Amino acid sequence: MKTFPANFIWGAATAGHQIEGQNINSDFWELEHTRPTLFKEPSNDACDSWNRWPDDLDLLRRIGLGCYRFSIEWSRIEPEPGVFSQVALNHYQAVIAGCRERGIVPFVTFNHWTVPRWFAARGGWTYPDAPALFARYCDRAMRHLGADIGFAATLNEPNGLLIAQRLLPAPVIQAQREMLRAASVRNGVDNYVGGPFFSHIDAALPQMLAAHREGRAAIKACRPALPVGATLAILDDQAQGEGSQRDAMRQAFYGAWLDAVKGDDFVGIQNYVRIVWGADGPLPLPDDGLVNQEGQEIHPPSLANCARYVHHATGVPIFVTEHGVMTEDDALRARVVPEALAELHQAMAEGVPVLGYLHWSLIDNFEWVHGYVPRYGLASVDPQTFARQLKPSAATLAEIVRRNGV
Ligand code: BGC
Repeated sequence: MKTFPANFIWGAATAGHQIEGQNINSDFWELEHTRPTLFKEPSNDACDSWNRWPDDLDLLRRIGLGCYRFSIEWSRIEPEPGVFSQVALNHYQAVIAGCRERGIVPFVTFNHWTVPRWFAARGGWTYPDAPALFARYCDRAMRHLGADIGFAATLNEPNGLLIAQRLLPAPVIQAQREMLRAASVRNGVDNYVGGPFFSHIDAALPQMLAAHREGRAAIKACRPALPVGATLAILDDQAQGEGSQRDAMRQAFYGAWLDAVKGDDFVGIQNYVRIVWGADGPLPLPDDGLVNQEGQEIHPPSLANCARYVHHATGVPIFVTEHGVMTEDDALRARVVPEALAELHQAMAEGVPVLGYLHWSLIDNFEWVHGYVPRYGLASVDPQTFARQLKPSAATLAEIVRRNGV
């Protein structure tokens, strides 16, 4: 058996907008209801985790997981600029206390993509004051919630749109522009920037980099010893043949962020798929490859490859803040997770420091523009009763956690 270090952290992850439901002050809610929209369906009640969060924490305990990564929703905490909701802060305080009561370490993401509607109406992350506004929210949230948090992430996958912008087909980018234009008209503003704003990511990048720095400083000012990082989307990019685009793509997808996280306590990595880059772009999938629900390649060693790549590029300890499988075939999830963890163990044996592994996701949830179709959960959620039911893959992970090895 490959045994993990005694202090290795096992957990699962979710994000507020994807599970809470009725996140009506957020930009995503607005764009889900804008016409035209990119969204397959609106989030509506999601998994009702705003009310059922104790059920979610109980699932973690049943799997034996000791860490829960979840996000606090900026639009609930600050529904109007400078107006903070005590009820929302108290709610998240109760979730954090609920974690601690169950022996679960809370890992809090301060921004998992969704922003307040008023922030998007000002131009979102392209707005020059965006970093200061984010830091003010981090400060306020930290002062109320900070004492019992175990880990903090500023931004979730701030590089995700850099990837999407280059990989998505032109009609999708065009549809996104039309959605934001309609939202601008609806709000009577020039430049509504929210949701999946691929077409504005270049203008937003400097403010997002500054938001990470200023948000981290605000969090650290409250609790200097609290480990803080960002979480990055990392594809397992491999090069094949002469003139492969791989290195250029890596620079475009991760370069700025791998620099930005260098002073952090950890870097969160989030991996789902592999891309093999040839001279003209991604190469076709191997015939015998495993694929997810959308036909992208799942390669179990990918997670370890990403850990090696990011650690070598930054020198910062790795935290696997998301890894999972988009599939309706739970047996595939149960197969991929142990294989990926065996490879991750190998990378650790080679000297890559990895603090822990958080599976995405604890429960099936609202998968952004794709709606409720993609399945990532260790548990399913009944859309009428919201009852959770663990899948067999949860037992596979539970056994790995129990043995602390694979
Ligand atoms: C995001 C999650 C998302 C998951 C699966 C990550 O990009 O952080 O919010 O659900 O991947 O697509």
